[in-house]
Amino acid sequence: MILGLIGSGNIGSTIARLAVAADHDVVLSNRRGPDTLADLVAELGPRARAATSAEAAAAGDLVVVTVPLKAYRDVPVEPLRGKVVIDTNNYYPDRDGHIAELDDESTTTSELLQVHLPDSSVVKAFNNIYFDHLAVLHRPTGDPERSVLAIAGNDETAKVTVTDFLDSIGYDALDVGALAEGWRYQRDTAAYVQPYATPGTDYPTWTARPVTAAMLQESLEQATRYRDM
Ligand SMILES: NC(=O)c1ccc[n+]([C@@H]2O[C@H](COP(=O)([O-])OP(=O)(O)OC[C@H]3O[C@@H](n4cnc5c(N)ncnc54)[C@H](OP(=O)(O)O)[C@@H]3O)[C@@H](O)[C@H]2O)c1
Repeated sequence: MILGLIGSGNIGSTIARLAVAADHDVVLSNRRGPDTLADLVAELGPRARAATSAEAAAAGDLVVVTVPLKAYRDVPVEPLRGKVVIDTNNYYPDRDGHIAELDDESTTTSELLQVHLPDSSVVKAFNNIYFDHLAVLHRPTGDPERSVLAIAGNDETAKVTVTDFLDSIGYDALDVGALAEGWRYQRDTAAYVQPYATPGTDYPTWTARPVTAAMLQESLEQATRYRDM
């Protein structure tokens, strides 16, 4: 399978490393252009190449969007038509500027991307795990220390595709529901990042701990948002 990456920073490069380790091909892209990804391509080896965002989108059987949220409208629409798109993005107003419909919680980050990509199937994944933890928690199928990652999306077939991809790179998936349910593991919820951090350790020196489906489910059930209060 070819994995296209729109964004190849902390989380994009981590997903790319896991994908190559699982014998997938990867096409990386970023904002500054393919030449700036030469070191990462060299590190990843012959299964990796760098391209423009539009080329990475066109090449991918599955495509990951992993850019700062403020750049989501730059994601190429046409080459992603009919494709499954994984969205890792989170909303940080200090970085992204204020987005009214996220501030009032009338929508979620991945629903914004879905509106931007009306003919793609967006699945929210990877947004609630710190990249260094994602890099080390992968385990083979059936390993008792295998961790689970949350997914949400409106297209059941797309969620199967993403579940299979996660399985290939060493993770189980927990289906949280439709894309609108993605708020349950967005920033400032109990399910955001913290479940994968060893209790008593803190950013930036925190260490990773495996997360079972029961642990993730418990943190998802603690989620509240002010419009539900
Ligand atoms: N860091 C984490 O642990 C983590 C975990 C889960 C989710 N997330 C979320 O995932 C997203 C990416 O996070 P990150 O930490 O990987 O960010 P990052 O390290 O800053 O990387 C961002 C990547 O996006 C690229 N990019 C920026 N604007 C672009 C554009 N207009 N078109 C194409 N590519 C563009 C950047 O390219 P240049 O380098 O050329 O600017 C870079 O490759 C964010 O929404 C973040 O909140 C992060």
